[in-house]
Amino acid sequence: IKRDSRFAQLTGEHVGYFRSLLGSESAVIDGVTNDRAADDIEPFNSDWMRKYRGHCKLVLKPGSTEEVSKILKYCNDNMLAVVPQGGNTGLVGGSVPVFDEIVISMSRMNQIIEFDEVSGTLVAEAGCILEVVDQFLASKGYIFPLDLGAKGSCHIGGNVSTNAGGLRLLRYGSLHGTVLGIEAVLADGTVVDDLCKLRKNNTGYDLKQLFIGAEGTIGIITKVSIHCPQRSPAQNVAFFGLESFDKVQQAFREAKGQLSEILSAFELMDEGSQALVRQVTKNESPLEGRYPFYCLIETSGSNADHDSEKLQAFLEDVMEKGIVSDGTLAQDETQIKSLWTWREGITEALSHLGGTYKYDVSIPLKELYQLVEDTRARVDAAGLLGDTDEYPVRAVVGYGHMGDANLHLNVSTRRFDERVEKVLEPFVYEWIAARQGSISAEHGLGVMKKKFIGYSRNPTIVGLMKNIKNTFDPNGILNPYKYL
Ligand code: FAD
Ligand code: MLT
Ligand code: ZN
Repeated sequence: IKRDSRFAQLTGEHVGYFRSLLGSESAVIDGVTNDRAADDIEPFNSDWMRKYRGHCKLVLKPGSTEEVSKILKYCNDNMLAVVPQGGNTGLVGGSVPVFDEIVISMSRMNQIIEFDEVSGTLVAEAGCILEVVDQFLASKGYIFPLDLGAKGSCHIGGNVSTNAGGLRLLRYGSLHGTVLGIEAVLADGTVVDDLCKLRKNNTGYDLKQLFIGAEGTIGIITKVSIHCPQRSPAQNVAFFGLESFDKVQQAFREAKGQLSEILSAFELMDEGSQALVRQVTKNESPLEGRYPFYCLIETSGSNADHDSEKLQAFLEDVMEKGIVSDGTLAQDETQIKSLWTWREGITEALSHLGGTYKYDVSIPLKELYQLVEDTRARVDAAGLLGDTDEYPVRAVVGYGHMGDANLHLNVSTRRFDERVEKVLEPFVYEWIAARQGSISAEHGLGVMKKKFIGYSRNPTIVGLMKNIKNTFDPNGILNPYKYL
């Protein structure tokens, strides 16, 4: 892709305006007039996977909705392109510039505004870190309805902008259901105040839904109001090994039947993914034996004894029936955390091993794992499997949110390599399209999947999306080169 020549080049005059607007020294990182700022700008130009790299020279950190509005109005009037950035943990290259777009970091907008202890409605600024919000809610007996491995750095505004799914969607549902309201700023500076706190509101189109998952292409989310469930006093976790994907499916059915309302997560990991976690962390696996598949089940309920009895009975039953080969139950909080690291820690472990090609897809459950096998066979046939400089692919692994039919196909390589990418794309997308799956289940489109949207959305829908983009951002200054 080429830089869009409609966008202006940044000048000292532009920087001067932003400085006078934002006042505080730390709210502007200026690499336009100051070469020495390059090191400070570097983290905003590089994504979490170190796969995408931008060339931005200016980072702005607004402290209020009004400042976001003034920044955007000025950018729109002067044809300056921008990239909204939250915690920069996105996995599709959406949060970093492609060329010299200005990064608008939301990190200073990190206040919890209000919390209603009866209804569980939280209102907070977009730049709040997920884990910080969740800890606040824990102190009130509540839980944020989303949890994911990047919780220590991702922002709730970033979560809403990507419509992140995470580890407990099975229980608490998608952000499309839990987000009650949004305040956002459009490209021309218009503040859209839809910070509704009601669970029900059928007065006209539900416009906030458009911002959920829009990846910063139609506005910048500044505040979020969200319905938070009661935190369950009792949590239990089981981890078990299985001999086939057929058995994984049987175990899922049994778990839904036997654990019903207390089931809060059903996660899948293959042996390849666990071998990589062992290699990086040097930790002992929770089970003695090795199995092609592992599942992690979490229950959340109101009665610890009752729940752990139920989970124990479930595990005994599925082992007796020969569905599960071996399993273990966490006995306390430390063990619960430790079992979760075998699932949550995969992404980070992979990141230590070089480049990872990540495909986050939805497929009808019965064929979910077939994609991993077919991809592995294809990479092998292309002669790329080997973990050497010449054969850079270390492993083709699968894990994911089994309960949501969401697979993470990951191809771990020594380094990002065009030969590998050519073997994988568009193969993976064609495979998905042939099964009416989704090429992006929860990570979004970003820059990675922009050109592949047609594999999951028909031309009529893409056309309507383009109309929406043009209505909200006619000059196209918001997160250009991505999404559509
Ligand atoms: P960023 O990465 O900064 O931005 C993501 C996108 O949102 C970009 O397009 C950006 O422009 C836009 N954006 C950010 N803030 C705003 C805003 N205020 N207004 C408008 N646009 C904005 N995702 C899942 O769905 N499920 C998981 O289980 C999961 N686990 C992860 C585990 C790890 C270890 C990592 C590194 C990532 C994981 N992710 C997961 C991916 C990622 O989508 C989430 O971490 C998170 O939702 C991104 O939030 P962020 O604040 O880091 O956003
Ligand atoms: C996960 O479920 O672990 C996340 O979506 C991150 C990833 O896909 O690696
Ligand atoms: Zn995921």
